[in-house]
Amino acid sequence: MDVTQSTAGDVIEVRPMTIHIGAELFGVDLAGSLTDEQVAAIRRALLRWKVVFFRDQALDHEAHVRLARHFGAPTPAHIVFGTNESHPEVYSIAKHRTAQNGRTSATRCWSGWHTDITAAINPPWASILRGVTVPPYGGDTQWTNLALAFARLSTPMQRFVEGLRAVHRFDAPAGDGDYARRVGARDLAAEHPLVTMHPETGEKVLYVSPGFVKEIVGLEPSESRALLENLWEHAVSTEFTVRFRWAPGSVAFWDNRATAHLAPVDIFATDFERQFYRVTLNGEVPVGVDGRPSTLLSGEPIEAQPA
Ligand SMILES: [Fe+2]
Repeated sequence: MDVTQSTAGDVIEVRPMTIHIGAELFGVDLAGSLTDEQVAAIRRALLRWKVVFFRDQALDHEAHVRLARHFGAPTPAHIVFGTNESHPEVYSIAKHRTAQNGRTSATRCWSGWHTDITAAINPPWASILRGVTVPPYGGDTQWTNLALAFARLSTPMQRFVEGLRAVHRFDAPAGDGDYARRVGARDLAAEHPLVTMHPETGEKVLYVSPGFVKEIVGLEPSESRALLENLWEHAVSTEFTVRFRWAPGSVAFWDNRATAHLAPVDIFATDFERQFYRVTLNGEVPVGVDGRPSTLLSGEPIEAQPA
């Protein structure tokens, strides 16, 4: 139990999972109506631990959306892939969803790691994912702490990268499959600072969403590629990460402004089914160390889903 979180009035128990990222939270029924104190305690733990986990929660779509609305305004399910759900905020993450396939070759070795929808000028600030059909083993998800990743760069490298900006884009892969068609139909790109200021914690964050970053502005292509490979490898150092083993009823709630995550691919080697659902919270435009916000290159800002 984290004593720093256990101040009087906290009704939620916080059990950290590693030194730097991830905590399990106990003593709250997310399907029930949350008190202001519970909401504040969860938010405090989220800012401190970047991703928080809950066990044995009985959420349906309605309760999932209600939970999300305690913390912000949900986005539409997915601005590129859309939704077939009756609940427009709830995105289905099935084992064989189209988004799993067709990543681009330029970022192949890092393509699993990403921060949700950073191709948008205002990426969702948080994601809440619940496991419904969970493999008996395998299918773990990993997160990495990108504020720590920045802090652990050398001072000269920090000074260098905090003056840079990068292009984030949804790339249409080759071919005319469903994935290519959907991505091509919704061209989305933004230029974000390579180091962002976290609007709540004030931390500097190495904002390098590997699945979406295509190039660093102003560098030669070879320089850009070499620097990105170095930063991506650094950003997912094991010490900065946490790995979560799901069970039915598990919920993960992460701060998209300070993390990247890795969806599992191991389950594709099995017949295990996996059905998860996600709600994301509408985010603001990131701001760099110099105070300069991101700029839109293509597409529209994400709008919150009306209540
Ligand atoms: Fe994701």
